[in-house]
Amino acid sequence: MFSSRIPANLAPNRLTEALRARRARGEPFIDLTESNPTRAGFEYPPDLLAPLGDGRGLRYEPLPLGAMDARRAVAADYERQGVTVPPERIALTASTSDSYSLLFKLLADAGDDVLVPRPSYPLFDHLTRLDLVVTRDYDLDVHSSWSIDFASLERAITPRTRAVLVVNPNNPTGSFISRDELDRLAAICAPRDIAIIADEVFADYELEPGAASRAGRVSTRTDVLSFALGGLSKSVGLPQVKLGWMAVGGPDRLVADAIARLELVCDTYLAVSTPVQLAAAELLGCGASVRRQIGSRIVSNYRALQAAAAGVPSCRVLRSEGGWYAVVQVPSFEPEEDLVLRLLADGVLTHPGYFFDFPRESFLIVSLLPPEASFADGVSRVLRHFDRKASEA
Ligand SMILES: Cc1ncc(COP(=O)(O)O)c(C=O)c1O
Repeated sequence: MFSSRIPANLAPNRLTEALRARRARGEPFIDLTESNPTRAGFEYPPDLLAPLGDGRGLRYEPLPLGAMDARRAVAADYERQGVTVPPERIALTASTSDSYSLLFKLLADAGDDVLVPRPSYPLFDHLTRLDLVVTRDYDLDVHSSWSIDFASLERAITPRTRAVLVVNPNNPTGSFISRDELDRLAAICAPRDIAIIADEVFADYELEPGAASRAGRVSTRTDVLSFALGGLSKSVGLPQVKLGWMAVGGPDRLVADAIARLELVCDTYLAVSTPVQLAAAELLGCGASVRRQIGSRIVSNYRALQAAAAGVPSCRVLRSEGGWYAVVQVPSFEPEEDLVLRLLADGVLTHPGYFFDFPRESFLIVSLLPPEASFADGVSRVLRHFDRKASEA
């Protein structure tokens, strides 16, 4: 009865089962996978959501790409990041996931493919499959830092490739795409009519000073059709408010054609609520205090992780330039899944690298959002495990 867009096997994996059982037993654990900012102990201004009650929201005047004032507010927020985008080139969406779905409808027919980085954001599997798009991986290589393996990217291109996805900075590797990499990518994509979709939801969050301003940004490109994605979810820590956006860049004619078509797709759903559009400018302005708290939390947790891991020779924190996650390379005494289950039994939850499609084992991914004290406690439990292993060996 059901479509094959949804995986046939919905059974929970071992880790989900173990978590459920632990919760059912009422046993606490430190969650180093927490990526919900509203559960991470930040102080949200109590009246932050007051603008959602604006009385003008009682009137419905649908506009497919969003109200111009809200699009201007997003353009002003790009300006804050040093990126100039005309508001006419901005479309509002309900979330970044919504943006992906709209773009797959805009660019791809059923069975067309998009290239996705590996390792990266696990939701791409579902987002593409739900829109009948096929994913093909290209690799990110790690040396002293992560970079695109262009040979693997060119190998992955087929006559049905419609877009290359980049996550900038990437989740979980924390790598920004450099300007040189973006130039090279544009030179590959433009002549083949392949668009670039750049997920910039973490663009505000640097772990290395200056990393964000050194990064390549697609929205100002004039040579290749490109879409930069952002949203309140990460930029001001409000995933529940549901406002995302995309900024369209590229040759003028292509941009105009894309926006005209996007308008039709957006008009079909009209997914963005009027109250959130009316509130956009204030949410972006007042949410800055949340962004600052998140920004200092991730830096302090990342430093604490580096300092703690420096005392455990078998573990290495990979260089991360930005975003909310850190990657720890650990010895492969056992499969990642067993390791993560063992750590959970010790009271700390981490993500295994395979969850993000790391091509080999063993890596643990930790969120940098948890409050400093529990983050430090969780990290010391993880590292203690490898210290113990080393002394047993
Ligand atoms: C790379 C990336 N893009 C998008 C999202 C989700 O954004 P939204 O809540 O706007 O759909 C996430 C959430 O973790 C993410 O890691």
